[in-house]
Amino acid sequence: MQPLLSPQFHASRSLQRILPRLQATFAAQIAADPSGWQQFTRRLEAHFPALFRLYFDLYSTRYDFFYHLEDLLSGLARAWFERPTDLRVLDDAREAQPLWFQSHHMLGGVIYVDLFAGNLEGVRQKIPYFQELGLTYLHLMPFFRSPQGENDGGYAVSSYREVDPRLGTMVQLAQLARDLRAAGISLVVDLVFNHTSNEHIWAQKARAGDPDFMEMYFIFPDRTLPDQYERTLREIFPDEHPGAFSPVVVRQGAEETNAWVWTTFHAYQWDLNYANPAVFNRMAQEMLFLANQGVEVIRLDAVAFIWKQLGTPCENLPQAHQLIRAFNRVARIAAPALLFKSEAIVHPDEVVKYIDPAECQLSYNPLLMALLWNSLATRKVRLLSHALSTRFKIHPQTAWVNYVRCHDDIGWTFSDEDAAFLGVRGDDHRRFLNEFYRGRFPGSFARGLPFQENPKTGDCRISGSCASLAGLEKALTEEGPAEVELAIRRILLIHGITLLVGGIPLIYLGDEIATLNDYTYRDDPAKARDSRWVHRPRADWQKYARRCDPLTVEGQVYQGLQTLIALRKQNQVFSGGELSVISTQNDHLLAFERMHAGQRAVVLANFSEAGQPLPPGFFTRLNLTPEHIAFQMGRFDASDMQSLGPLSLIVFIPGR
Ligand code: GLC
Ligand code: GLC
Repeated sequence: MQPLLSPQFHASRSLQRILPRLQATFAAQIAADPSGWQQFTRRLEAHFPALFRLYFDLYSTRYDFFYHLEDLLSGLARAWFERPTDLRVLDDAREAQPLWFQSHHMLGGVIYVDLFAGNLEGVRQKIPYFQELGLTYLHLMPFFRSPQGENDGGYAVSSYREVDPRLGTMVQLAQLARDLRAAGISLVVDLVFNHTSNEHIWAQKARAGDPDFMEMYFIFPDRTLPDQYERTLREIFPDEHPGAFSPVVVRQGAEETNAWVWTTFHAYQWDLNYANPAVFNRMAQEMLFLANQGVEVIRLDAVAFIWKQLGTPCENLPQAHQLIRAFNRVARIAAPALLFKSEAIVHPDEVVKYIDPAECQLSYNPLLMALLWNSLATRKVRLLSHALSTRFKIHPQTAWVNYVRCHDDIGWTFSDEDAAFLGVRGDDHRRFLNEFYRGRFPGSFARGLPFQENPKTGDCRISGSCASLAGLEKALTEEGPAEVELAIRRILLIHGITLLVGGIPLIYLGDEIATLNDYTYRDDPAKARDSRWVHRPRADWQKYARRCDPLTVEGQVYQGLQTLIALRKQNQVFSGGELSVISTQNDHLLAFERMHAGQRAVVLANFSEAGQPLPPGFFTRLNLTPEHIAFQMGRFDASDMQSLGPLSLIVFIPGR
């Protein structure tokens, strides 16, 4: 009779077979670093069963499965032996305190290296500024070698191991990571793992007809399969090319033939084929290489797209989750300090599926972002309140990354079902929001631009800087001081929510000094077709110099933000993510309570430009008195406590 063999049995038998072979391969390293080897095998034994399960589910149908499994493990051992001592110390510290990222001290910032500071050395020189602002997390937008001219803002990577020579070197990056860490700041970097640029050596070899490299991408001899796939695909960058495939010329022997390659985004961004375990192994190597430079958080770019299957939308497939979970185990074994942040700008039901200690510990919160802008436009908080009560809670060992703007456009990714529940038709409402943020709707304060308008579907997303979308550009150029004041309040109001709501607040640097839209991208042929460049300007250090002058707009926004940041950092209640929404019986007023370590805070925000009443007895029921006010922006008469002034934000912290 055949014995019944459990997956654990297969896992442990595989490990028993592979370990001695690793010991032989790495004999010299083991002799030089026996305690390192011990640490490695301890973690390997703890995480291999889970890694094996995932890898087996993804790749066991391959005849060469075991070859790839062994190759993966030797890659892990190699990366571990290369891991610098200071990072191994960090590994231990993070394992001892795995929820460090939930602290109320956390504050994120994101910059483009060249636009903010010229190059990596320039970024290093700005560390005092990051400290002044209070950052503990710095995301550098992709700085890797990438094609000259158009490269999707660096998201077309030609080498994961080389810095764009104009920005510096990998040695400088590692030094920057150390300097940042010494200043209490964790380095966050993209792993653009859905695609490489068409100039990556893998893509070049694929074009040259090397079968090992052709298998790393999706290359088709004709339109048969692309046409079949496209029946169920969404168009992501319809401005650039219809559908998901681009023509490519491939060498076959002595001949050049026309073929099609999968390009979800731009024609120069080739999607990687993760159905091939060699792709998984190589990307695991690239990830560990970055971790060994001192990167503490990897932003997993465009996670939704990494697995393809005919007859499906090829977004958010179960295998995409398995892949990330397998990468997560890879990190636990060979670079345990590393965290993952998911970039899934998709339906909220799908966003949360990436969030798990075993998958991505951190995730962008695109729903909160979109609904903050929705609330400013509608002056109503119903969708926002509803989303906070039903969709904000995530696994207690994870955290949202809350933001109001980033380098990308705003997509209205709220759920149609939630909208319908509140009597709103999703598509009509999205059309309204697009009109509003393009400044084409009566009562609109915004100066946004359309992004990837799709004439076939009527879809559109919005580009624009925080300040311009919040009304500052219009107020400064066409209106007056009263409107400027309102715009500043809008900026502070939505930033205030991201700072206090629970999770890691992330500031798109430039927003802290109310940077406006920059229309000069239209003169640059490498940028003109992509309106996202309107909110990716070069940092204006003269403008930054005004940040401490309260008579300037920059000063008012910067100082206002600093007050809110201090409020967060001084009160432990803003740690973690526990939140409950409070009913205000007023569509314009948002209220929520935060709880942590026995403390509570209540946050109240008025999203309309008119004063708004609170129901009688509101504060009595919450046991709040004027003495509990810890922060106040806008009018709020503490003597009667009955209404909130226009665009005001009030925070109560009893028992401070
Ligand atoms: C991510 C990036 C975006 C880029 C896309 C393709 O969504 O945020 O800027 O265009 O991936 O890499
Ligand atoms: C799409 C993708 C998202 C990306 C964005 C860039 O919305 O889903 O991942 O950030 O395009 O514009």
